[in-house]
Amino acid sequence: QVAAASGHTVVLVDQSDEILKKSTKGIEESLKRVTKKKFADKPEAGAEFIEKTLKNLTTSTDAVAVVHSTDLVIEAIVENQEIKNELFKRLDKFAPEHTIFASNTSSLQITQLANSTTRQDRFGGLHFFNPVPMMKLVEVIKTPMTSQKTFESLMDFSKAVGKSPVSCKDTPGFIVNRLLVPYMMEAVRLFERGDASKEDIDVAMKLGAGYPMGPFELLDYVGLDTSKYIIDGWHSLEPNNPLFAPCPLLNKLVEEKKLGKKTGEGFYKYK
Ligand code: 3HC
Repeated sequence: QVAAASGHTVVLVDQSDEILKKSTKGIEESLKRVTKKKFADKPEAGAEFIEKTLKNLTTSTDAVAVVHSTDLVIEAIVENQEIKNELFKRLDKFAPEHTIFASNTSSLQITQLANSTTRQDRFGGLHFFNPVPMMKLVEVIKTPMTSQKTFESLMDFSKAVGKSPVSCKDTPGFIVNRLLVPYMMEAVRLFERGDASKEDIDVAMKLGAGYPMGPFELLDYVGLDTSKYIIDGWHSLEPNNPLFAPCPLLNKLVEEKKLGKKTGEGFYKYK
C-alpha cells in the first residue's frame, strides 16, 4: 500500500485469490482512512489519489511468474526459516541479476536467509511496523555480505515510501523488537503471577508511560502467533536468557487458535 501510494508499481503476491481479495479490500479501506486525513478539504484529490494508488497495484498467486520484472522483492510470509529459505531460493533462480531481495522478518537472521540465495550482496532486511501506513519507522538491516550500494538503495527506498529509516546490525529483534518483545512478555508474566489484571496493566502503560496501546492490546494487534514465533526463536538461540523464556499463557492461547484481533480473540475478545 505505501509503495503503491508513493508511485511504485507493485505486485502483491499471496497464496490464494481469496487471500488477495481480502488484502485488496483491507488496502482499500486503509487508503480511505489515510485519504480522509490527507485530503480532508479536497475529496476529489483524495478520490484521485486512491484511484492512482490502486492502479499501481496488481495481484498474483505466482511469485515466480512475476519476479522477472521486479527491482525489489519484499518478503513478508510466515516467520519460518525453512519456508522463507525455500521461497528465496526459488525466486533467486528467476529474478533479474540486479534485483534486491529484502525480508520483513521480525526475528530471523537476515544472513541465514541471504545464504539461501546466490545474491548475498543484494540482500538485506526491511522491517516495517504495524500499522504500516501510520508507523513512520523502517529498520534497514545490513548483513556483513550486504553491499554498500544495496544498503543505500534500501535506505533510499524507505525514504521514497515516506518512512524514516534507521539501521541496525543483523541481531535478534534488531532495535524495536529487541526492546518491545521482552517488555510484552514481562507484561504477560506480571499477569500470570496475578500481580495485576491485564486491563490495569494496559491502562498503566498508556497513562503512566504514554504508550498508544497497552502490552496486551499490542500483543493482540501484532498477533499472538507472531509473538510466539519470535520468542520461541530467540529462546532456542539463547535458552538461558530469562527475557526470552516461553510464556505458558501465550502458548495456551496460540494452541487454542486465539491469535488476537485477526481471529476475533486473543487476550481480549473482538466482535
Ligand atoms: N491504515 C490507515 N490508517 C490507520 C490504520 C491503518 N491500518 N490504523 C490506524 N489508522 C489511522 C486512523 O485512521 C487514525 O487517523 P486519524 O488520526 O486521521 O483519525 C489514526 O491512525 C489513529 O487511529 P485510531 O483513532 O483508530 O486509533 P489510535 O489513535 O489508537 O491509533 C494506532 C491507532 C496508530 C494503531 C495506535 O494505537 C498506535 O500507534 N499503536 C501502537 C502501534 C505499535 O506499537 N506498532 C508496532 C508494533 S510492533 C511491530 O509491528 C513489529 C512486528 O515485527 C511485530
